[in-house]
Amino acid sequence: MQTRTLGAGGLAVSALGLGCMGMSWSYGPPKDKTEMIALLRAAVERGVTFFDTAEVYGPYQNEELLGEALAPFRGQVVIATKFGWAPASEQEANGRWNGLNSRPEHIKQVVEGSLKRLRVEFIDLYYQHRVDPAVPIEDVAGTVKDLIAEGKVKHFGLSEAGAETIRRAHAVQAVTTLQSEYSLWYREPEKEILPTLEELGIGFVPFSPLGKGFLTGKMDENTPLDATDFRSKVPRFEPENRRANQSLVDLLNRFAQQKQATPGQIALAWLLAQKPWIVPIPGTTKLTRLEENLGAVGVNLTPEDLSEIEATASNITIHGARYPAEMEKKSGL
Ligand SMILES: NC(=O)c1ccc[n+]([C@@H]2O[C@H](COP(=O)([O-])OP(=O)(O)OC[C@H]3O[C@@H](n4cnc5c(N)ncnc54)[C@H](OP(=O)(O)O)[C@@H]3O)[C@@H](O)[C@H]2O)c1
Repeated sequence: MQTRTLGAGGLAVSALGLGCMGMSWSYGPPKDKTEMIALLRAAVERGVTFFDTAEVYGPYQNEELLGEALAPFRGQVVIATKFGWAPASEQEANGRWNGLNSRPEHIKQVVEGSLKRLRVEFIDLYYQHRVDPAVPIEDVAGTVKDLIAEGKVKHFGLSEAGAETIRRAHAVQAVTTLQSEYSLWYREPEKEILPTLEELGIGFVPFSPLGKGFLTGKMDENTPLDATDFRSKVPRFEPENRRANQSLVDLLNRFAQQKQATPGQIALAWLLAQKPWIVPIPGTTKLTRLEENLGAVGVNLTPEDLSEIEATASNITIHGARYPAEMEKKSGL
């Protein structure tokens, strides 16, 4: 497995990481724990050294799962986790408008829980999950700086932060990486974010790099999504939008045939080709799909391929918002 480096501090990780959210949260009920432990260990055997979780996935269950599964590989893998949501009980007590909490005292409290659940002495990469408009980003960066000085955290990350916020945070504590949505069907970061990251020497970790599964070509407008699946609430996954967005999958399929690859592999190879400091974190709960996704590292898209993809993709209108309106408001992009 090839490695890539995130940020000026030289965080080396496998060129593709593994997004672990779907093992416990968001895409239906939590998956079988024994099977997920086996999958996580199989990923390590196949060269994956970068695992993505968050306190809120479960909540807590996903961190616990990674703590158990990856305990034998301490020091050989990089585990990224995230803080910044207020537990439901706290939201009721203080009436905070959007359920976010990045107050310094809260971060200092919840880091202890993450350390314990992950069974580590320090967190390799600690992201703020969403920018909290009630807390200046300088205070958040300063708090993570303290945690780094105390040896509890190694690297600082932000998620879905805007360019100005990234700059302000980076001035207080070097940001190693930004994690935000990016794929052929969500290209917003290209406008301001990627140039800012390049200028500041910050790495980029695209989440939902397979368009939450849609770009693999394994879903169409008839694929059922039950109420426990978050995508059932996402406008972009409404059946008529899935039907309209099929033209993007057609493009990926065309290249997949040429390259003897799969549409999902083309979607990931396209991301890897954008910048050498981009590390996508596709999520899966199945070994065959993990292996398929890792195969994207070996798919070579030439400059001509990339121009052709660009020319076609830029004429495709993507239908439906990527998030319900309430959630989109929390994005800093
Ligand atoms: N920072 C944030 O706010 C944020 C937000 C969202 C996600 N994330 C992180 O990013 C990671 C990845 O994002 P994501 O899970 O939303 O989306 P994704 O990686 O784009 O897609 C995951 C979906 O695709 C399916 N899938 C994966 N590989 C496949 C393949 N080869 N063929 C067919 N289907 C395939 C998975 O189903 P199966 O499990 O059935 O394979 C799952 O439903 C998450 O796990 C999480 O760690 C972060």
